[in-house]
Amino acid sequence: MKKVVFAAFVAFWSSIATITTLQAMGPEQATTEADSGKADAAPAYTLEQVAEHATLDDCWMAIEGGVYDLTAYLPNHPTPPFVLEPWCGKEATEGMRTKGYGRDHSPTAWGMMEEYRVGVLVE
Ligand code: HEM
Repeated sequence: MKKVVFAAFVAFWSSIATITTLQAMGPEQATTEADSGKADAAPAYTLEQVAEHATLDDCWMAIEGGVYDLTAYLPNHPTPPFVLEPWCGKEATEGMRTKGYGRDHSPTAWGMMEEYRVGVLVE
């Protein structure tokens, strides 16, 4: 009988110790999660930073709040690259929305852009 009481006593205090340890770990884990959340956040760029990529060899555009590195896409665009060149390094929503003659790009074209997204635009 004494053995059973002793075993119950040990089991009780072990569970208290386990609960206390887990509680102590709680806030630390929460901090780690918050930190990794920050690491996942999209990089933010200003228009000045976008403007540093204003050539056909290195062409970024800011479009509807997103920042895109379109360098690799330029040779695949259905027009010669000179059509897009004036928009490299710029806020290019107008270019995307009008194609330079007043007609918006297709939903397919808008969808293709996601592959080239490098971050978000900040003021
Ligand atoms: C922002 C500057 C841009 C300008 C001025 C521009 C202009 C044009 C022009 C003149 C055409 C051919 C005429 C036509 O189809 O109506 C065209 C077609 C097209 N462009 Fe662009 N483009 C730009 C950016 C982009 C980007 C960033 C993408 C995708 C990553 C893209 C994807 C396409 C596609 C897929 C087409 C075929 C037609 C369509 O799906 O709308 N363009 N673009």
